[in-house]
Amino acid sequence: MLFPDYRPRRLRQSVAFRRMIRETTLSTDDLILPLFAIDGKGVKNPIPSMPGHYQLSIDHLLKIAKKAHDLRIPAIMIFGIPKKKDSLATSAYAEDGIVQKAAKAVKDNVSDLAVITDVCLCQYTDHGHCGVLKGNIVDNDASLDLLAQTALSHVKAGADMVAPSDMMDGRVAEIRDLLDDNGFSDIPIMSYAAKYCSAYYGPFREAAESAPKFGDRKTYQMDPANALEAIREATMDVEEGADIIMVKPALPYLDIICRIRDEIDLPIAAYNVSGEYAIIKAADKMGWVDGQKVMMETLTAIKRAGAKMILTYFAIEAAMEIIEAG
Ligand code: PBG
Ligand code: ZN
Repeated sequence: MLFPDYRPRRLRQSVAFRRMIRETTLSTDDLILPLFAIDGKGVKNPIPSMPGHYQLSIDHLLKIAKKAHDLRIPAIMIFGIPKKKDSLATSAYAEDGIVQKAAKAVKDNVSDLAVITDVCLCQYTDHGHCGVLKGNIVDNDASLDLLAQTALSHVKAGADMVAPSDMMDGRVAEIRDLLDDNGFSDIPIMSYAAKYCSAYYGPFREAAESAPKFGDRKTYQMDPANALEAIREATMDVEEGADIIMVKPALPYLDIICRIRDEIDLPIAAYNVSGEYAIIKAADKMGWVDGQKVMMETLTAIKRAGAKMILTYFAIEAAMEIIEAG
């Protein structure tokens, strides 16, 4: 296939031809919208580094959940900002915790919208780490039961799926066992399997008020330099009973999405994180890029790399764009 016999431009010359040979299409079915739930009524606190996103009391969260559902987005992911933090993250697994209340409200009001909950302790611990501490060390095994209890309490409140983001070893198996023992063998686990220790989480930590008070997350989140380790992490989570494998962040880790897609025969999710969103929004505001176009190109690239599901703060905007384009 050499020029001049083969001319790749032949199949690029019309909209119709381009549509016919397009290999990747983005659908509203691929999108998951993350939302931040906070106590109170009528609360809609803007998150400065994430324009268009807010800390939402449940009344406001429900409005956005309905909008997402109307735009044919199949699922939301709920993060909670609790009233009270302590060393054992008790608000994370409290029956009347913020995520539990928000999950229940969404299921009561927008029942067809799938509710996925983020399972972690960092928003709920007074030190801001994703597990409990022994001295200054994040204690893996002591954190497992609390994470599983958190997942169980979300499911009891109505969550359709749980997504552990803590990166403790063995947590998928612990959660699977506890859910099964309590009659929830039908609830899937979306595992943040390859979650990197990333500076792209900056805006999220402002939104969720979850930055660690000392140190960093390098002893549990992955080193950005590693790829083979991501395959080990993902394989382990598959063996422990994960149903969906997530890679996070997305755009700087497209190679990881692609490699895990090749190795693992489960649906792959990618988390287009807060910093990825903030960068595009900021450059758009400066007039330096066309934010809408960069958004669609980015989401398409994440899907092309091998992700079926994309958790993205662009979900609403992208869904509107997809529906408009028909
Ligand atoms: C906490 C958690 C983080 C994100 C999701 N869950 C941040 C972190 O690990 O500090 C990041 C999401 C984002 O940046 O959009 N376990
Ligand atoms: Zn965490």
